[in-house]
Order: sequence, then structure tokens, then C-alpha cells
Amino acid sequence: MDELRLAGAKAAGIWADHLGGVAERPVWRPVPDGELAWLTGQELPETGRALDDLLEDTRAHLLPYPMGNGHPRFFGWVNSPPNPAGVLVEPLAAALNPSCAGGDHAGPHLERTVVRWLAGLVGFPHPPGGGLLTSGASMATVICLAAARQRAALADGWDVREEGLSGRAPLVMYVTGEGHSCLHKAAQLLGLGARYVRTVPVDAAYRMDVGALRTMIGEDVAAGLRPFCVAGSAGTVNSGAVDPLDEIADVAAAHGLWFHVDGAYGALGVLADGAAPHYAGMERADSLALDPHKWLGVPVGCGCALLRDPGAARAAFSLVPSYLVDENAGELGWFAEYGPEQTRPFRALKTWATLSHLGRAGVKELVEHTAALARELGAMVERAPDFELLAPVTTSITAFRHLPRAGGLDALNRAIPGAVQSRGNAFLTGTRLGGRDALRACFLHPETTRADLEVLLDEIRVAAKSL
Ligand SMILES: Cc1ncc(COP(=O)(O)O)c(C=O)c1O
Repeated sequence: MDELRLAGAKAAGIWADHLGGVAERPVWRPVPDGELAWLTGQELPETGRALDDLLEDTRAHLLPYPMGNGHPRFFGWVNSPPNPAGVLVEPLAAALNPSCAGGDHAGPHLERTVVRWLAGLVGFPHPPGGGLLTSGASMATVICLAAARQRAALADGWDVREEGLSGRAPLVMYVTGEGHSCLHKAAQLLGLGARYVRTVPVDAAYRMDVGALRTMIGEDVAAGLRPFCVAGSAGTVNSGAVDPLDEIADVAAAHGLWFHVDGAYGALGVLADGAAPHYAGMERADSLALDPHKWLGVPVGCGCALLRDPGAARAAFSLVPSYLVDENAGELGWFAEYGPEQTRPFRALKTWATLSHLGRAGVKELVEHTAALARELGAMVERAPDFELLAPVTTSITAFRHLPRAGGLDALNRAIPGAVQSRGNAFLTGTRLGGRDALRACFLHPETTRADLEVLLDEIRVAAKSL
């Protein structure tokens, strides 16, 4: 253990230097050929290597080539910097190394608290056992949609786990074209069939057109199909749009549909001053996906599925073989009964540490700071003759495009993110929005400043000139 103690002290210095120096290094740089060969071509050592050597290799060959999301000028996708409290305790989770499948030990008990805190933060109802931590929102979505699928089947007098889907009226789900791909992946994985995931049109602000939703449900019922779920977004990845959740909840209630909300990125936006009206109805959902590893900055990976009726997830997943029976499990049983994972990592520790370190006020401040940056960039873009704002700013994402010339704007804006990234001063990614190639900047870093926004627009201008 002396070797671990010494190496651990050294590791603490390495990660402190790394995090402390992030802003001085390029946001991102490509992995050079020599390093790529080292990373991909190593042979498994015949005999074990010393801990100190592993640290030296990590320092020399890994830390210089990050994805970039620790940097205050990283604006790509939805990837946050790690909260220091989360970084601090992550090695301790590894040192304990439990499986949080269930049982009477620290991990599962702390997970109950963390899930309750997350639900409380965003105002989601929380019955005992009403949620679990996952690898991310993709897995949370699988859990929520599986619960929805089983509830619909049981309501119709059959059991999807026993019978499978064949021979039954197709189950239909509704989501806008702005809904995250994980909703489609989950639906496909659950055997629903991509053709039964309906694309509901959006309005000019990229929010679900609820009138169209009503019409589509009516048509599907008339065609003998079985509408069972509508998935709204509380913060789309393209533009940060929040669907009209209250109206969707009304439709779901009227038609007996499961109402799922993808708040993986944006649910916490409800904490910003004045934002609550946008989120009205989120608390009416049957399930809510909310990722601690996004806006909160919990080190990857930690998602969360929140469930109004935990029994629905248990009905979809519980399968307890004799070797896992736990007479002392209590009424809620094990977490492993609510999702597909059996051995589950100790995700609660880094999430508890992050939430405790920030406190409710700190979370609100982080959300408000980053949302204000997105609004400020939106205003700058609107003032600039060579930029155009493409969507209202509701969370902490600004969707826009560069128009330094008249033609070829799609090709230009498609090429800009790569050109900006390779300069190393800022990092943003693109998308397609309303049929046009767009740029989008997502703000999640507590240390991003208004000056960084100027840098971003200048970087885009310079990069565009080189294209
Ligand atoms: C809005 C939204 N939903 C779902 C997901 C999927 O989450 P994860 O990558 O944690 O599985 C993402 C990921 O960026 C997202 O932004």
C-alpha cells in the first residue's frame, strides 16, 4: 500500500496541475501520429509495471490530448467541465468498488438521497424509489420507454415481457424532429420499429406543435394502431428549445399516453430566474431523464431516470434469480430491479459530492451564469451584420450562423466548426436547423466569460476566411 499512497499523492498533483492549467492550453488539438501510434499500438506488457510509470505515461501521452470540455471556451455538443468535488471523490468510489445493484451498504443508500435531491431541484414528484442513476440519458431513456411499453401492454391485458410484440397492434410514440437520437435508439432497441416513432412538426421556435400531435394521434387510432407514449424535450440539443410541456401533458392525459420528458441537458434550466413558465408541465410527466453529467458537471457518466410510478419500471425489469434474493431488501427491493444493469457503479458518490459542493444556490448560479452567456451571444449575433440568430435562446444554447457573403452558406457553416476547432482557441459544433446548416454554442462552464464570446465570434470570422 505504500506504493499506492506515494503514487496517489503524486496523482493528486497531476490532476490539480491539469485542471489548474486547462485555460492556458489549446482547447483541443489533434492527436499527433506518434502519440496515436502509442495510444493504439501498445502491446500488453508481459510483466506488470510500477504505478509511478503508469502516472508518467498518463501525464505524457494522455493528458495533453483532451476532448476539450474542461476548457472555458469549449462550446461543443453538451459536454461540461468536471466539477472538482466530483473529481475529488471519484477515486474513492473506485477504492470502495461496490456494486450498487442493491444491498445494505453506503452506495445504494446514498443513491436514494441523490435521486431525491435531483427530483427536488427540478420540482419533479418523488415517491420512494422514484428513480435511479444510469450511465447517461440514453440508458435512462431505455428504462423510461420500457416502463411505458410494459404499462401500455398491461393496460391492454397482455405482457410484453412474456409475449414479445408480435401479433399486437403496433405501439406508437410521438417526438419532434428536434428530439434527441437516444429516443429513437431506445424505441428501436425496444422493438417498436422506427416507422412507429412519429415525427411531430415544430413551430418557428422548434417547439412541438401540439395541434399536430392531436391530429396524428387521432389518425393512428383510426388506423388501428396503439399510441402509447409522447416524448417532449426540456432543452433540445440543437437549440435548447423547451416543448410546451403543459399542453403535451393535457394530450397525454386525454389519450392515456405515457408522457416522457427528455430533460437530460435542459431540465435544470427551470432554476433560472423567470424560466419556470417555460417548464410548466414538466412535473406532470410520467418520467424525466436528467443527466447530472451535463449541466451539473458531474464527471462522466451519470444520468438519471426519474419515475412518477417506480412500480412501472420494476414491472418492466424485475427479474430476481435465487442467487440474488435478498430477504432484507425492504419494500423497494434492489436498484437492479428497475433497469437492465446488474452490477452498477457507485455513481452516487460523485453526484452527491458535486451537488453538496455547489449547494442549491450554486446550481442556480451556474445555470443562470451559463444561460446569461447564451442570451448575450444571441444579442451579439443579432447586432452583428455578418451573423444571424436561428432560434430563440431559452436555455444555455445559442443557435446561429455566419453570413459573411451571399452564397454557399450551408457549405460554409458546415465547414466552420472543424476550422475553428483546429485553430485551438475555441471549440464549437454544428447542426442542421430548419433545413439550414447552423452553428451552435452550448454554455456549461462556470468560468466562461463575456470576453470568451468575443473570441468565439472572432474565431469564426477568421476560420471562415480560410475556407
Ligand atoms: C437533450 C439530450 N438528450 C439525451 C442525450 C443523451 O444523453 P447521454 O449522452 O448521456 O446518453 C443528450 C446528450 O447529449 C442530450 O443532449
